[in-house]
Amino acid sequence: MSASASSDPHAFFQEQRGHGPGAAIEPTASEHNPSPLPLMFQPLTIRGLTLKNRLAVSPMCMYSSTDGFATDFHLVHTGQFTMRGLGLVIMEATGVSPEGRITPNCLGIWKDAHIEKLQQIVRFVHANKAAAGIQLAHAGRKASTTAPWLMKTLRRMRRRSLDKIRRIQGDFAQAAKRALLAGFDVIELHAAHGYLLHEFLSPISNKRTDEYGGSFDNRVRFLVETVRSVRKEWPQDRPLFVRLSVTDWVAPCDAVPGGGWTEEESVELASRLKSEGVDLVDCSTSGSSPLQKIPLAPGYQVRFAEDIRRQVKGMLTGAVGLITDAQQANDVLEQGHADMVFLSHVKLCDPNFVLNAATSLGTPSSSDISPGTAVPTDLSPSAASMLRVLLPALTRLDDTLESVNTKQAELTQVLTRLTTELDQFSDLVAPPSHGSTSQHLQNSRTRLSNINVTLKRVRTRLDNISLLAQAKLNK
Ligand SMILES: Cc1cc2nc3c(=O)[nH]c(=O)nc-3n(C[C@H](O)[C@H](O)[C@H](O)COP(=O)(O)O)c2cc1C
Repeated sequence: MSASASSDPHAFFQEQRGHGPGAAIEPTASEHNPSPLPLMFQPLTIRGLTLKNRLAVSPMCMYSSTDGFATDFHLVHTGQFTMRGLGLVIMEATGVSPEGRITPNCLGIWKDAHIEKLQQIVRFVHANKAAAGIQLAHAGRKASTTAPWLMKTLRRMRRRSLDKIRRIQGDFAQAAKRALLAGFDVIELHAAHGYLLHEFLSPISNKRTDEYGGSFDNRVRFLVETVRSVRKEWPQDRPLFVRLSVTDWVAPCDAVPGGGWTEEESVELASRLKSEGVDLVDCSTSGSSPLQKIPLAPGYQVRFAEDIRRQVKGMLTGAVGLITDAQQANDVLEQGHADMVFLSHVKLCDPNFVLNAATSLGTPSSSDISPGTAVPTDLSPSAASMLRVLLPALTRLDDTLESVNTKQAELTQVLTRLTTELDQFSDLVAPPSHGSTSQHLQNSRTRLSNINVTLKRVRTRLDNISLLAQAKLNK
């Protein structure tokens, strides 16, 4: 699955298994599975990394670190997604410097001591055959503050010297080195939501008059150079993503005559990022100004992923934002709007989203979420998927036989009662008539009893087949 696997083969039982949760049992069309799988469950290869499906956990700040260290909270929080079928989990905005964190409780990667715990988390993700990503971030004018829900206004962008700019770019490069040592498969640079890299892009926040401000070329310079310095440290076989706020959602107005950063600028920037070695743009929006007007609706940001994907040759895109339903997510992919879907709220509310999506889209997928329920390795994938279909069918057949048995028992009772009543009235009925009715009843009882024997045989055979199938699957 991943570009790097754990070096300790005994670390987790799951590592020994062929499938990870959320992987299609038969990911490609075959003789037994001629219809193409929903795109959501088809693997995606980006450079040296093959993702088992196209669903990612979008980065989510958890405010659960001290001094930047990941904790058991992060192990459980990140790990649970991979036990439930996500192909890629991108860890939260992670400060490349202490002053670049949003809050004192945000995750960091500015010193080597941070690596060890991150390594453990990555190892667990890999054990579940998922890929691990980390979002490298500097929060700029939103940094070193309180929790976001307490923040009332945006501070002005600080005038950073050229030295300071170089230092921050160096911090990103060093963070990439540490991410590599921790074993991450993907780096995502956070250039969205009004944080530092976005601050330089947006004319709303960027008021510089030097080579980093003013024209489009100048405003994108900081990000492009940062990408370049990260790419130098990040191996060629590992994917690099950039999250953009594709638009600021701020139209020209009295307060901002020129308006904010636009979709057209994002397309042009994405094309430059492609030539700098960026593989995927994760298409978010907003965060620069309280004047933003966001037309919130299901999938409201998807069209930006589609625009960049369509206009920038070879650039993959991720769609994110109010994608909450399996069919909706798969449609985004099937209709060519994006290459991956990033999920955030829905994963917090519905941890089994991926496994349920597999069921609702009719994809036999691995749901071996705990040791002991592994998909059998001695069965061919197609045999395993057929058994999975067969077992519920056998159960339904068994239920039907059960109700036939009940009806048969009721009929026998009725026949017995009729026979008794017939006997009681035998004195009043002429012998020939009584004789033929009695014979009919006797014949019916014999037939019912034969049916009963046949039913019993069928049930025994069904039980045997069920036991065999179950044993195969549990092996
Ligand atoms: C609790 C929480 C924390 C978030 N933290 C980050 C973050 O660290 N970096 C980031 O780029 N986006 C962050 N986001 C935004 C999400 O990644 C995502 O883009 C957004 O929630 C929209 O997706 P959704 O509609 O599936 O929730 C966060 C969202 C939530 C709900």
